[in-house]
Amino acid sequence: MTRITETSDQWWKTAVIYCLDVETFLDSDGDGVGDIAGLVERIDYLAELGVTCLWLMPFYPTPDRDDGYDVMDFYGVDQRLGNHGDVVELIRTAKDRGMRVITDLLINHTSDQHPWFKASRKSKDNPFRDYYVWRSDTPPDTSDMAVFPDKEDGIWTYDERTEEWYLHHFYSHQPDLNVANPKVRDEIMKVIGFWLELGIDGFRVDAVPFFLEDVGMSGQDADAMAEPHDHLKNIRAFLSRRRGDAILLGEVNVPHEEQVKYFADGQQLHMMFDFVTMQKLYLSLARADAGPLTEALLARPQIPEDCQWATFVRNHDELTLDKLTEEERQEVFAAFGPEERMQLYGRGLKRRVPPMVDGDPRRVRLVYSLLFSLPGTPSLFYGEEIGMGEDLEAEGRMAVRTPMQWSPEKNGGFSTAPPSKLVARPVPDGYGPQFVNAWDQMRDHDSLWNFVRHLVQIYRSHPELGRGSFQVLDQPHPEVLAHCVTWEDRIVVAVHNLSGDAHAVPLRLDIPGGSVLESLLSREEHETDDDGAVQLDLDGYGYRWFHVHPPHKLRLP
Ligand code: NOJ
Repeated sequence: MTRITETSDQWWKTAVIYCLDVETFLDSDGDGVGDIAGLVERIDYLAELGVTCLWLMPFYPTPDRDDGYDVMDFYGVDQRLGNHGDVVELIRTAKDRGMRVITDLLINHTSDQHPWFKASRKSKDNPFRDYYVWRSDTPPDTSDMAVFPDKEDGIWTYDERTEEWYLHHFYSHQPDLNVANPKVRDEIMKVIGFWLELGIDGFRVDAVPFFLEDVGMSGQDADAMAEPHDHLKNIRAFLSRRRGDAILLGEVNVPHEEQVKYFADGQQLHMMFDFVTMQKLYLSLARADAGPLTEALLARPQIPEDCQWATFVRNHDELTLDKLTEEERQEVFAAFGPEERMQLYGRGLKRRVPPMVDGDPRRVRLVYSLLFSLPGTPSLFYGEEIGMGEDLEAEGRMAVRTPMQWSPEKNGGFSTAPPSKLVARPVPDGYGPQFVNAWDQMRDHDSLWNFVRHLVQIYRSHPELGRGSFQVLDQPHPEVLAHCVTWEDRIVVAVHNLSGDAHAVPLRLDIPGGSVLESLLSREEHETDDDGAVQLDLDGYGYRWFHVHPPHKLRLP
């Protein structure tokens, strides 16, 4: 028997995460800015799609110089979006529809407009001085460490008033918090406790490696950070004491081997995005060769039972390719974003999936079929379910943060405000709301929306996809990934063809004689022969998923 009850305790191992920015989702009061009341209006849309966990990008008060990732008050709500009452209504409504809500937790840095930083830069003996990391000696060249090299030339900025430099891994208007300071640590715990108390189910933790590195710290601070992962362990322990089922989903874009440190023995992050596999997936797609993706999946380190990979093919940032070699990156650029205006920071793409594959519906669906069939918890970025494109004229990462396209109406149904008042303009080209929108697609049985919804349903009713052990099945075509996920007595087999040529794929399952392969995406069945062998035909860019019923063991999901 499968231990199906575990799927509720470890709900996050079979969740479907959906990331959105309240600001660009739905504007309920016609001021041109999306708001929490608008999001509540669309909870049923998300429930119908099958989303089980909303990830809200930062909604805190902000000077908005990094789209809300620059926070002025960790306990507040950006007035343009709503207030605490709206947040509580949202959480309640989402819960009623079976959805959990997590939010971004920014504990690496604040905005320079945060009262702590304003106080910190007043004088060297201000009580808040040590909330940030200062140095008095001239810093070395750190230009290779700046995360946004188009705007910053290092990670230290000189403060005229107090004549010292402060640390910031990101923009200079985002000073890094001194997490070695026990007072800062206490503040972080209070912030976590506050949102948990309001009903938030966990956090997407921003920029984790950056606040566990002791760069720039000296003296007592360096001593306090001698075991940096203790800080993360303490956060996790606090979170779990307050709410046993709350999660930490970390942004940790480091090589697989290093990610292990952040899972540790199940006492730090519950989940981490698998940036490496995401990047290798694009390399595989560019080459029409399943090799790089397969290698990445097989090289995933073993992680504790209480941990999980989060999978994704797009997020709100540049589609980073930073973990590929220079040559590999250039291959992906050539295939999916050959023009300079499509690229960002020399390491990533400004584009969304459909324009990258020239709108070829077979390839778009192939990508999402992979996302939902590979082991892990899939995370969608709003608009992926309808195949939205990007606005290449928008500044940097804002290219993919355009308003959600609800209908073919004015402003794509996002807002009734005059276009000049919109927080961002809708995508202007053939991917614009007139051609790509939720209204039309929800009414079209063959739409991408319905396809993604179907994938979500299958994923949810087959917990082996989220929890199972992964195995690559031998077959002769390098262009094809054939894999199997197994959990207890549940088995799903999936085959994906990354090339445009059709292939007949001979497979052999490790189960002797006469298993029934029941297709999950269409109505067809195959039976293996006495040796467990079967042949599956794939069209160019084709994909097929099967529930395997061993001989005489037909089972409902
Ligand atoms: C990572 C976030 O994903 C990104 O959008 C942000 O700019 C940086 N952290 C700084 O907060």
